[in-house]
Amino acid sequence: MRLLFIADIVGQPGRRAVEHFIPQLRKREDLDVVIANGENSAGGSGITKRTADEIFAAGADVITSGDHLWDQKEVIELLENERRFVRPLNYPPGTPGQGSVLVQKPGLPPLAVINLQGRTFMQPLENPFHAIEAEVSRLRQFTRLIFIDFHAEATSEKVALGRMLDGRVSALVGTHTHVQTADEQIFPGGTAFLCDGGFTGPHESVIGREIEPIITRFMTNIPQRFEVAKGRVLMQGALVDIDNLSGRAVSIRRVSELLPSEPR
Ligand SMILES: [Fe+2]
Ligand SMILES: [Fe+2]
Repeated sequence: MRLLFIADIVGQPGRRAVEHFIPQLRKREDLDVVIANGENSAGGSGITKRTADEIFAAGADVITSGDHLWDQKEVIELLENERRFVRPLNYPPGTPGQGSVLVQKPGLPPLAVINLQGRTFMQPLENPFHAIEAEVSRLRQFTRLIFIDFHAEATSEKVALGRMLDGRVSALVGTHTHVQTADEQIFPGGTAFLCDGGFTGPHESVIGREIEPIITRFMTNIPQRFEVAKGRVLMQGALVDIDNLSGRAVSIRRVSELLPSEPR
C-alpha cells in the first residue's frame, strides 16, 4: 500500500495546493490512500464542512485535525456526521467525533488511521501514551496496517511515542510545528517515522502567517491579526510504502512540492 500524508493544510493557498497535487501524485506515484491534516484549512484556523468537502473532492480519503479543532463552530457538523474526519483520540469520553477510522480500498487490507495529540507545551488532553496503547491493541484485531498523525509540539514526545509503538504500527508522522524535520527513518521493528511533516500552504511566512504582524507581536507583546500569507506555496508531508501482509513500512520519503505560480 502506498500512502500519501499531507501535513497541515493552511487556508486557501493550502487547499489550492492540495487540489493541484493530489490528482497529479495519484497518477505519478500510484497512490492508494491519501490522508490530510485539515486543522488550519479554514482561513488558517480550524476546519468547516465546506473546506473539508474541498479537501475530500481533491482526493483525500481521510482528514485529521489537532489543537485548532474547535476554532470554527461548524466543525461540530463534521464531528457528528463525517466518518472520514478524525479528531485527536485522547479527548475525554463523551467528546463528539472519533479518534480513528478504518479505510477500506478495493483489493487491499483495511488501513486504520489514528489522530493523537501531544501534551508537552500544549493544552493537556488525556495521556496520549495510555490512549494510544489501548487503541492500537483494539485496532490490531482488525488490521496490521496502522497510520498515526501525532499532533504534538515536542520532538522528544513524538520520538518516544514512535519508539514505544515500533513494530505495532506501520507509520507515525508528526504534525503541528509546521516545520518539516529531516529525520525520516524506519525503526528496527518496521515503523516508519517522521517527527514533523511540515505544512501545506504559503512558506514566505512565519509558519503560514504574514511575517510582519508576528514579528510585531514578538517585539511588543501586543495582539495582532495574523492573516494567512500568500507566497511560495508548498505541499508538504510524506509518502509511505507499507507491506500489505506484515503491516511493516518498506520506505518513507519526505514530500515538499512547490505549487507553480498561477498566471495573473
Ligand atoms: Fe497546524
Ligand atoms: Fe496544531
